[in-house]
Amino acid sequence: EKEVCFEKDLEGKKILVTAGPTREAIDPVRFITNHSTGKMGYAVAKAASLRGADVTLVSGKTAEPKPRFVHLMEVDSAKEMFDAVTSEAEFKDAIIKAAAVADYRPKHVGTEKTKKKEGEMVIELERTDDILKWLGEHRKKGQFLCGFSMETQNMLENSRVKLDKKKIDMIVANNLKVEGAGFGTDTNVVTIITREKELPLNTMTKDEVAHRILDEIFTRQNEG
Ligand code: CTP
Ligand code: CA
Repeated sequence: EKEVCFEKDLEGKKILVTAGPTREAIDPVRFITNHSTGKMGYAVAKAASLRGADVTLVSGKTAEPKPRFVHLMEVDSAKEMFDAVTSEAEFKDAIIKAAAVADYRPKHVGTEKTKKKEGEMVIELERTDDILKWLGEHRKKGQFLCGFSMETQNMLENSRVKLDKKKIDMIVANNLKVEGAGFGTDTNVVTIITREKELPLNTMTKDEVAHRILDEIFTRQNEG
């Protein structure tokens, strides 16, 4: 990585970032998860800390190296992420939720390893709490809330629905089917959506996307 000196334009800002997947236990051996690698969220945490922000990173299990200069809180399940985020949320100027949180978890978690039997099996699932929706409903005055949205169809339309339903300020949308976007890649192709505008960005590294997101959040806040 080349040596770059960043302007400390986020000095004094308290930012909470979430990253990575959650894991929902089926039994002591197995879990349900998704393909999130945490790269986008870690890029946001790193970019914010290079620019002088005070960063807390709530992360699901990832292979990403521990970023320096951030307060890292490692979590496993959607419930643990909910507890970590809601306990930290109150004093944050901005919360950026890049994590891929499971929408469902097994209703009953086995205490012993499930043994196989003849024939099919069914796992009953229950909904997890929507962390971002909770944040939208318990927002501190002046706090900025940014979500992410991954879609395979009707990206802009579906993402706008999330912006409204979760009562947040910004959603960063990406289409999993576009080349250079999505899970595990070092680049991303996103559209930054707010109530007032839609900003489609070209293919760029996740580090660059991270800086653009921070630019949008904090220039908007400075404008009032
Ligand atoms: N999110 C959350 N808590 C959940 C589920 C999602 O905080 N239990 C957040 C994600 O971190 C992301 C945003 O909501 O920032 C959008 O997640 P996404 O999965 O795209 O949307 P959902 O509202 O869960 O809708 P669906 O999966 O049905 O498209
Ligand atoms: Ca979801």
